[in-house]
Amino acid sequence: MAAANRAIRLRHRPEGSLRDGDLELVEEPVAEITDGQALVRNLVVSVDPASRFWMGHPRAFMPPVPIDAVMRSIGVGEVVASRRADMRVGDVAVGFTGWQEYCVADDSQLEAPLTVLPAPLPAPPSAFVGVLGHTGISAYLGVDHLDPKPGQTVVVSSAAGAVGSVAGQLAKLRGARVVGIAGGPGKCRHVVDDLGLDACVDHTDPAWRELLDAATPDGVDLDFENVGGDIMDHVLMRLNRNARIFLCGMISQYNAGSDRSGWRGLVNIDQIHMQRATMRGFIVTDHLDRWPEAIEHLAGLTVAGKLRADETVVDGLENVPAALDRLFSGGTTGKLVVHVADRSTATPAG
Ligand SMILES: NC(=O)c1ccc[n+]([C@@H]2O[C@H](COP(=O)([O-])OP(=O)(O)OC[C@H]3O[C@@H](n4cnc5c(N)ncnc54)[C@H](OP(=O)(O)O)[C@@H]3O)[C@@H](O)[C@H]2O)c1
Repeated sequence: MAAANRAIRLRHRPEGSLRDGDLELVEEPVAEITDGQALVRNLVVSVDPASRFWMGHPRAFMPPVPIDAVMRSIGVGEVVASRRADMRVGDVAVGFTGWQEYCVADDSQLEAPLTVLPAPLPAPPSAFVGVLGHTGISAYLGVDHLDPKPGQTVVVSSAAGAVGSVAGQLAKLRGARVVGIAGGPGKCRHVVDDLGLDACVDHTDPAWRELLDAATPDGVDLDFENVGGDIMDHVLMRLNRNARIFLCGMISQYNAGSDRSGWRGLVNIDQIHMQRATMRGFIVTDHLDRWPEAIEHLAGLTVAGKLRADETVVDGLENVPAALDRLFSGGTTGKLVVHVADRSTATPAG
């Protein structure tokens, strides 16, 4: 048994971007498990835009992480010791394992029970925090809600990101015209050439508003919204009558400050009224009953070569804070995951 657990604890609630000292990497003894518990070693941990608002948003969909607690995160880990009947050593499980190496799987202590994945594992562990996990499932449920049809125009913001890249491809598979928004010419090329979207607008180009107008000559029927702020505001001005918005997230606002002093309001919100539009707020964990259906669909498309799932992999738990910063500076493509450890039991994928 390992002697030490490395864990990232929240020491201060950040104001704006993360600063040195907000998080601390600590080394502490690995907990001794008792009856009803298992010890899970994280293989990968997820770094998400939500990680930022879990550090301090006073009114998010989950309470903020308590000061000095291990940071909340989804992860995929391997059971390395077990005193519970439903988890065997060598099993791989997904859930809120936290930014740490070892998580005690005790249903009475965790925010939600971990889910044991099928053996042999049908995909690499990282897929279960990505295309077959909360981000891919958000894309699937969002596109299912929007229900794009041929002849309609869909806009997807952060189109090269974890959720957006899958959402854009799924909308395209349903025959709609799909316009992505992403940061930089390289990402935009990737969105069109590799993900197959019809067009992609570079929001770092000073003329991005005009470019978005030109890319949506027939207006916007459906908006898969990941970014919020100025970008969403301009999309509002492009809405067609009876347009629908799937509000998955607003990453551009997550560093705005807990008092919201930096918050960018939506000037064009009147367009919801004028265009008789509807907007749906969404949290993927509210729909656990639909996760199996989503995973089956996404896995089928991936295996058939119809869905591409890119990842940015960062090595080492100690690099989690820097990885989080990359989400806000556009330094990732596809799903951002941090690799923590390799599997100790060699169970072949397939
Ligand atoms: N509702 C749910 O249950 C749920 C679940 C998962 C994720 N989400 C939300 O979905 C959205 C995407 O999440 P994700 O995990 O897929 O992350 P992601 O899109 O992979 O996030 C990183 C990307 O966001 C873009 N970005 C960051 N700051 C920006 C800004 N100020 N303006 C424009 N673009 C900006 C950057 O891309 P560019 O380089 O292209 O600008 C960056 O690479 C987030 O809002 C997240 O909160 C919601």
